[in-house]
Amino acid sequence: MDINSLFSVDGKVAVVTGGSRGIGEMITAGFLANGVKVYISARKAPALIEKAKELSEKYDQECIPIPCDLSSIDGIKDFMKIISEKEDGIDFLVNNAGAAWGESFETFSEQGWDKVMDLNVKSIFFLTQQMRDLLSKRSSLEDPSRVINIGSIDGLNVPALETYSYSASKSAVHHLTRVMASKLVKENILVNAIAPGPYPSNMLGPAVNYDYSEIEKRNPRKRVGSPEDIAGLVIFLCSRAGAYTVGETITSDGGIVKTASHNLG
Ligand SMILES: NC(=O)c1ccc[n+]([C@@H]2O[C@H](COP(=O)([O-])OP(=O)(O)OC[C@H]3O[C@@H](n4cnc5c(N)ncnc54)[C@H](OP(=O)(O)O)[C@@H]3O)[C@@H](O)[C@H]2O)c1
Repeated sequence: MDINSLFSVDGKVAVVTGGSRGIGEMITAGFLANGVKVYISARKAPALIEKAKELSEKYDQECIPIPCDLSSIDGIKDFMKIISEKEDGIDFLVNNAGAAWGESFETFSEQGWDKVMDLNVKSIFFLTQQMRDLLSKRSSLEDPSRVINIGSIDGLNVPALETYSYSASKSAVHHLTRVMASKLVKENILVNAIAPGPYPSNMLGPAVNYDYSEIEKRNPRKRVGSPEDIAGLVIFLCSRAGAYTVGETITSDGGIVKTASHNLG
């Protein structure tokens, strides 16, 4: 019951997709600060390599970059080949890499549909499928491996912007989480999802010219999400404390989804 063992992730090995910036970087930092060796992936190699070096030095913990495009099966296979050569087991897989696309209903393009679905949904399924053996190697009834899928409150609420494929993809992530959880719990791999609200990043920033003040004013908690908010939730899910939580989608949004009032008129 000691808090240090209840929430410990020390000595574990994690993969965080899209770990080069934004929410993925926040999660990676939380792991590294608490003794987890982390593999991060993204497409742009120089930024990824630089980020891994910066975080390794900051937290005095191994952060290893694997550049790849996870939106195709070929990219996932390339990633798996590299990781399998380096590790014989993985404790935590955080499926975080994601993309958004906004376009009006009338002109919404096939490209904007496929790009988002390929990365946000297809890659989560196939990367988890391909990583199942590595996750199984280190899982037991007492100490299961974990998969955390990053969804979005846009998959729970109707989004403010015209992001048709994005909101559909995130609903799919939440449901896929339950479906994969029901399969993999039998192998001591626990699958859960987190649905973030607004977090400062390259995805949210351009929609508000990187000025989050209006978003903060509207948020029930009067602020955007911080690294501690998302890292703390991930660490809870990966620790002993989260070992009885399965198939959930947990919001991290300052209360947007659960406290929104509805106009009954
Ligand atoms: N920020 C928010 O307010 C918010 C809210 C709800 C949900 N989310 C979700 O949180 C996750 C992270 O978003 P973020 O806001 O941190 O976005 P971000 O700053 O744009 O970061 C996205 C990350 O994914 C990587 N990535 C993009 N395409 C990839 C591909 N094809 N293969 C591999 N990696 C790829 C990016 O690196 P490269 O560009 O180099 O590939 C980057 O590391 C996403 O799933 C997003 O939907 C974010």
